[in-house]
Amino acid sequence: MDYIINGSWLDGIARTRTCARCPNWGIVLRVIAVAAAEVPEARPLAVRVDDQLTLAVCRFEGAYFAFDNKCPHRGAALAGGEMAGELLVCPVHHFKFSVKTGRCAMPRHLRLRSFPVREEGGELKIELEVEQDAPRPV
Ligand code: FES
Repeated sequence: MDYIINGSWLDGIARTRTCARCPNWGIVLRVIAVAAAEVPEARPLAVRVDDQLTLAVCRFEGAYFAFDNKCPHRGAALAGGEMAGELLVCPVHHFKFSVKTGRCAMPRHLRLRSFPVREEGGELKIELEVEQDAPRPV
């Protein structure tokens, strides 16, 4: 992976999901912003979210797609791969994944973990569900 940018968090938490049995736990929907112009045509862009998650952001025919950078086969960094039409090719064992569906061409049971992407005014807004510990009640 030779090109990593840090996505910037937009302010605000859009939605919270909690568990009645675990009051300190919650899933929050957060949005990370990336400039669309940073995403090259021929290969994915690695966007570091935090220590646990890096994204592989792809462009195909003017549409943008975001995936967990870890290949579902053996965990290689997908952003080190290349685009072949609508296919994202893993750099290690060369499995091919459709950016439209996330499915692997072969074996078919493998699928990329994908995240919704919206483009607004040249900026990509990528929605991530993040596990968070809510503040403990005082
Ligand atoms: S690690 Fe990606 S195809 Fe094997």
